[in-house]
Amino acid sequence: MSDASLYDSNIAHWDHFAKDLDKQPWGIASMKLWRKLLPHVLKAAPFDKDTSEVMDFGCGNGFNASLLVPHAKSILGVDVSSGMVDEFNSNIQKWGLADEGKISAVRVDLTEGGLDNKKFDIIFSTMVYHHLPSVDETTKILASFLKPGGRLLIIDWIKGQDKQQYSEQIDRIMKVDGFDEEEMKATFERAGLESLGFEPAAKINEMVGDYYLDKTAYLAWGGRK
Ligand SMILES: C[S@@+](CC[C@H](N)C(=O)[O-])C[C@H]1O[C@@H](n2cnc3c(N)ncnc32)[C@H](O)[C@@H]1O
Repeated sequence: MSDASLYDSNIAHWDHFAKDLDKQPWGIASMKLWRKLLPHVLKAAPFDKDTSEVMDFGCGNGFNASLLVPHAKSILGVDVSSGMVDEFNSNIQKWGLADEGKISAVRVDLTEGGLDNKKFDIIFSTMVYHHLPSVDETTKILASFLKPGGRLLIIDWIKGQDKQQYSEQIDRIMKVDGFDEEEMKATFERAGLESLGFEPAAKINEMVGDYYLDKTAYLAWGGRK
């Protein structure tokens, strides 16, 4: 599959499934996973409720970012799916988080620029990397959005764990099934990041629709000089 069709398939897929994702099997599983990941995320970066400006790259429906609201000064969700961005912003309203003006999402493709030179203390991204045409290109771009001393946190599946074939629909939106420590550290190094870390962080073991999901997610981190 070409990178362009991977990209287009992702936008079409996530636009289609965005609405009420929190009530669908994959959405529910990913919320459970995030609850397990959250303590690891909070440990891997110095979140400060008064100062931390945070980006959630590939933010999806806003659930992940919403649980970080008490730990950050501001959170900006970024996604290429306008369906997801609409769902994020409507959930933030629905969950009573919009009034403080701390959290919102925008539809931006960072490979095309955008965000008016804004820089972040912490950028995190959950279950997006296996969908990307180029993790090297994206990591370099995300690193460029960090303030000096800022931290990038990437969460994805440890590679090589799938025991079952995905449906054609899911296959179309995945570039790989995950990454290992060596790949993540090499990607971070090529993006100029330092103080690198990697840990298996959360496991999920249950039926998701008709797919038996039995996988471990890692958390990888790196800092900008
Ligand atoms: C599996 S969902 C994860 C959503 C959210 N991070 C979570 O953990 O619930 C993947 C997300 O990545 C986004 N995405 C896919 N390709 C992308 C790209 N090239 N750039 C930015 N976001 C992308 C999708 O629109 C979708 O919201």
